[in-house]
Amino acid sequence: MVRDCATALEYLKTFEEKDGLSVEQLMDSKTRGGLTYNDFLILPGKIGFPSSAVTLQTKLTKKITLNAPFVSSPMDTVTESDMAIHVALLGGIGIVHHNCSPEDQAAMVKKVKKYENGFINSPVVIPASATVGQAKAMRQKFGFAGFPVTENGQLYSKLIGIVTSRDIQFVEDDSLPISEIMTKEVVTGAQGITLAKGNDILKETKKGKLPIVDSEGNIVSMLSRSDLMKNQTFPLASKSFATKQLLCGASIGTMPSDRERLKLLVEAGLDVVVLDSSQGNSIFQLDLIKWIKQTFPDLEVIAGNVCTREQAASLIAAGADGLRIGMGTGSICITQEVMACGRPQGTAVYNVSKFANEFGVPCIADGGIQNIGHLVKALALGASTCMMGGMLAGTTESPGEYFYRDGKRLKTYRGMGSIDAMQKTGGKDNAATSRYFSEADHVLVAQGVSGAVVDKGSVKKFIPYLYNGLQHSLQDIGVQSLEEFNESVDAGNIRFEFRTASAQLEGGINNMHSYEKRLHD
Ligand code: IMP
Repeated sequence: MVRDCATALEYLKTFEEKDGLSVEQLMDSKTRGGLTYNDFLILPGKIGFPSSAVTLQTKLTKKITLNAPFVSSPMDTVTESDMAIHVALLGGIGIVHHNCSPEDQAAMVKKVKKYENGFINSPVVIPASATVGQAKAMRQKFGFAGFPVTENGQLYSKLIGIVTSRDIQFVEDDSLPISEIMTKEVVTGAQGITLAKGNDILKETKKGKLPIVDSEGNIVSMLSRSDLMKNQTFPLASKSFATKQLLCGASIGTMPSDRERLKLLVEAGLDVVVLDSSQGNSIFQLDLIKWIKQTFPDLEVIAGNVCTREQAASLIAAGADGLRIGMGTGSICITQEVMACGRPQGTAVYNVSKFANEFGVPCIADGGIQNIGHLVKALALGASTCMMGGMLAGTTESPGEYFYRDGKRLKTYRGMGSIDAMQKTGGKDNAATSRYFSEADHVLVAQGVSGAVVDKGSVKKFIPYLYNGLQHSLQDIGVQSLEEFNESVDAGNIRFEFRTASAQLEGGINNMHSYEKRLHD
């Protein structure tokens, strides 16, 4: 008998369960083994709204809410001020790494807190003693000219001129000092000037750059005409209610000296501290959480890393305001191979978040995020935010210079447990060794590798791509917010399916002679 098509929805109600699996059924891994993000898919729901209507507001910690679930990892090839500024502008938060002196880290935090949209806080400056040849080389390297000339070639030094493309364009003698050809009459703005006023000056004077100087004539920042043209506003920016400054996080270790480091970071305006350890369930970390809660009661503390309920319980009881989940799943990580410790990330995120969410402690899924689909799956399994290392490495805002190899433009990306990272600064203030409890080792045991990733362009484009991608995914699933997403997963209304090895192949690109994988325009 063929049923009447008009009764399809009625007939659907006669099934005991919805199609696919609930999250509990999916994750019931007692005998089957742990799952990674690639091992399952989310079944689509019903679309009744445009993707632009999807909101991605979420909790980073008990008290901090973000407009986008993106966190940049505290790694020395991922997050310094530039990354932290731009991730925060685009709705997430950056966690400044601590593989540097406490003073340097505090200066980076301060820079994020003092950032004003539109102002270039670290303009490339040049000393008056530099030659035309050097200015040309800088133009080649940075892809722009327009370098303020300062007395000692540093920022916060007296501004004595500016070298623009036009100044050096037709000068053939590369050995000439730039002081002979620079523009000496520089139009400047006074420190404290608003962005709108600065932009007005740029428009009126038709200049390309507007150096901002303090009362003694020292350059402190700069406005650029090209930025003015593309100056976006950032409606999603993560800001503190009270000060309207961008939110900034930073990591510290669990050694006694880290308490002194934290004092400097708090003075610099830190909003949230991440206790950076590959295995968070240690007496050092438990003691530190308690100390921080007593000493800086307003500072939010993210503890970790964990991958089991038991680890999480200790940290929650000690007072953690958020947890970071992941052991051995990072793209540069060899922990599982070397230590035999860790857990497949899907299973870790599900089990820890399910437990922590009962206490109102939000979780970060950290490590192994390779694409938008992984972000969605981590959030489906209960994480509130996702931390990214490799995804954000190789962007304009990540630390380090680009270099060319095999015809590709690359940047270094390395694990904090790589020998390279552990040997940085000769062991002094070395975050990497402390993250792996290796500061007293005579022979370092690597838990990560060092390598290179391809240029991804600016996060100003990449993060909006992730954001839009997430909106589209949630639209397919049929939910309009992350809150609704979590409720629907918990209620069993969002369904899942395992993905066999051949299903994974099927979901990839097939039977193409050649193709180019362009992810965004
Ligand atoms: P990714 O996003 O997959 O590249 O992973 C980044 C995460 O890997 C970081 O946030 C850390 O939790 C973790 N991680 C960083 N360095 C190392 C390492 O050397 N070994 C193991 N894990 C690491």
